[in-house]
Amino acid sequence: MIIEMAPMEGITNYIYRRVFAAHFGGVDRYYTPFISPNQTESLQSREWKELAPENNQGLVVIPQLLTKNPEHFLWGAAQAADLGYEEVNYNLGCPSGTVVSKGKGAGMLRDADYLDRALDQIFSSCPIRVSVKTRIGIADPAEFERILDVYLRYPLSSLIIHPRVQKEFYKGDVHREIFAAAAERLAASGRNTSLIFNGNIATAEEAASLAKDFPGLSGVMLGRGMLTDPMLALKTKALMAAKDFSSRKETPVLTMEAFASFHEDLVRRNSEVLSGSHQVLHRLKEFWPYWYVNFTNGVKYWKRVRKARYYSDYEEAVCELFQKEEIIPGACFEAYSIR
Ligand SMILES: Cc1cc2nc3c(=O)[nH]c(=O)nc-3n(C[C@H](O)[C@H](O)[C@H](O)COP(=O)(O)O)c2cc1C
Repeated sequence: MIIEMAPMEGITNYIYRRVFAAHFGGVDRYYTPFISPNQTESLQSREWKELAPENNQGLVVIPQLLTKNPEHFLWGAAQAADLGYEEVNYNLGCPSGTVVSKGKGAGMLRDADYLDRALDQIFSSCPIRVSVKTRIGIADPAEFERILDVYLRYPLSSLIIHPRVQKEFYKGDVHREIFAAAAERLAASGRNTSLIFNGNIATAEEAASLAKDFPGLSGVMLGRGMLTDPMLALKTKALMAAKDFSSRKETPVLTMEAFASFHEDLVRRNSEVLSGSHQVLHRLKEFWPYWYVNFTNGVKYWKRVRKARYYSDYEEAVCELFQKEEIIPGACFEAYSIR
């Protein structure tokens, strides 16, 4: 089973991907957070950095594009192809109000005929493979039947389904029954599109049970669950290996030393590219809503991190946590906690 790291804007950028891969790994494919090609036919410098081959060395990285315009998509795909990428991913799932109101991301799912025409244009001339990351509709999970009709008309290299509608954002249960129906239809279609499940996977057991429940599944994409537990991919692989081959490989365990060293590297790499400790503070704060559950008294430190005005406040809180607290074994992302 393939394990993918979910793209997360503001979080899983090239710095994070590289530091993560050096310290933990277990991920087969990474995606850039969305890149937005537009009529200017230029990208922001942040976006070029995501694509730069030297920033992604040694990792399988797939650039993700967000646009409603097939011509802009094709321009973005051509840039990726020029840089040596062999696949681009189409973001058809971003639920953010500003994105959707412009008809992008999940907004593309509102009009299946338009989606069909856009994919027709893209697939008729895209120089490299195209995969899709999608939600199952805007308001009603039943919308996915029609949307899937469209996807099945094209040779997608993979179809990553986050089985929620746009209006559900990232909360609540995922609609497994819709995913199950889609898996059956994809299998019956004869297409050799890889099917990937994404959403609320917090433990290796959950990832492994998906493989059992959906025999046609090619892989899982891990987002918040792997932010909280950076060993989630390794644990999933160990569990799957034990199940498949009765191997006695030990389950990897997250230790405070491993986490602190990962954190130190993340701070160092961010300090090298960001201008000033304030930016580093701002960047690091983004992680703690996902990290704090790993530690005894985690909430207390999360509050201190949130309130930190200067990097020195942050450093003090985090050093104290690393010295005084312990890792809670088996801690995992809580999909229902308030963030
Ligand atoms: C802060 C944040 C940023 C995200 N950025 C992106 C993005 O750039 N592209 C994308 O396709 N999905 C993005 N997502 C969605 C994730 O890739 C993933 O689909 C979602 O978190 C559900 O998976 P999970 O339950 O494993 O986290 C983002 C999610 C979050 C919470």
